[in-house]
Amino acid sequence: MKSRIVLTAGALLVAMAAGAIDLSDKQRAEIEARIKPVGEVCLQGDASCAVAAAGGAAAAARSGEEVYNAACMACHMTGAGGAPVMGDLVAWADRIAKGMDVLHESGVKGVPGTGMIAKGGCMSCSDEEVMAAVDFMVENSQ
Ligand code: HEC
Repeated sequence: MKSRIVLTAGALLVAMAAGAIDLSDKQRAEIEARIKPVGEVCLQGDASCAVAAAGGAAAAARSGEEVYNAACMACHMTGAGGAPVMGDLVAWADRIAKGMDVLHESGVKGVPGTGMIAKGGCMSCSDEEVMAAVDFMVENSQ
């Protein structure tokens, strides 16, 4: 019984790979976005890094939500170390009042002397991706 279920799942995967299951381009793109690796490590001086840093075509920018889920949620969902929790309107009101420029800078450079380290520790994130994550948190906290 159990092996039949496994077989069915396997057959489904094979059918998907063979293109037998008709996915729209949009569905296909969504699935690819969901399963692509979260971060690509690149070493300083590596040519591909320059492209990524410039927000180039090689590495498509991740959405604010994707970056939040991968790099910010650990602290900003739990309040770890005093992080303002996403969705906590009171905790965010004073911060939002400082303006988006200040919050973007806090995201990219961190807040010295606190648990908010530069880019929340996501060194594979571009500045733009971190700013998008800040936008995502703010949009869900006001
Ligand atoms: C290791 C825990 C941790 C992670 C991971 C983390 N943060 Fe934070 N964050 C904090 C803490 C703690 C604060 C509160 C700092 C303070 O006291 O002002 C904070 C504050 C912030 C603020 C408000 C700063 C201000 O000027 O008021 C922003 C914006 C922010 N984080 C963005 C992010 C983004 C974007 C990410 C993911 C890329 C992220 N954080 C990941 C801990 C974290």
